Amino acid sequence: MRTKMVAGNWKMNMTLQEGVVLATELKNQVVNPSCAVVIGTPFIHLATVAELLKDSPIAVAAENCADKEKGAYTGEVSAAMVASTGAEYCILGHSERRAYYGETYEILKDKVELALANNLRPIFCIGEVKEEREAGKQNEVVKAQLEGSVFHLSAEDFGKIVLAYEPVWAIGTGLTATPEQAQEIHAYIRGLVAEKYGEQVAEDCTILYGGSCNAKNAAELFANPDVDGGLIGGASLKAADFCAIIAAR
Ligand code: 13P
Repeated sequence: MRTKMVAGNWKMNMTLQEGVVLATELKNQVVNPSCAVVIGTPFIHLATVAELLKDSPIAVAAENCADKEKGAYTGEVSAAMVASTGAEYCILGHSERRAYYGETYEILKDKVELALANNLRPIFCIGEVKEEREAGKQNEVVKAQLEGSVFHLSAEDFGKIVLAYEPVWAIGTGLTATPEQAQEIHAYIRGLVAEKYGEQVAEDCTILYGGSCNAKNAAELFANPDVDGGLIGGASLKAADFCAIIAAR
């Protein structure tokens, strides 16, 4: 049975104090969830939030890590540093990092390897931009993203990865993929995993949907057989909204 999951991505929101308030609310409200729950926080929050949540069912993710192991890379945060905070996951390949910070397939490949080498589970994001969807190229885009950064992994390492399909046109826009669009491409992605690693690895692979997923539309998205949960941006910043999405899973 593959893991069902709801993961939050706070992005560049929340001061440390605000983050502690939100994490405390979640700790109090997420007591016995029926799925895995992860919150992705800025680096600054990780140690404090991981400590706060250590006896709760909520795991913590970084939103990024460096593509270098250590050394003279001013301002960067390594996968080993992330792991040392108690975080268990690392969001990698988010479209905002690809678009605004020039993260290429090669850079992401290095980040994925460093995360895995430090016992962090990557939540690896893929997804097409609006023009690519309009041109019907979404399948080839996600295929290239997987081949470029994660399909070189051993089956054992690939098994530690959570995939997140996030159509860029749906992120922060209020435009959500329809349940049919989500199911169609999630099934396609699972098929690619099956071709590469076999049916069992594909069957066990958690594939999240992200992009304007909220308390209202979560249940119909999650009702699809190949949508294993969500990666939630804006709606993860309020405990009530995030808890409602967890309840929908
Ligand atoms: P929104 O839920 O705000 O659209 O963001 C989705 C996302 O990018 C999660 O990583």
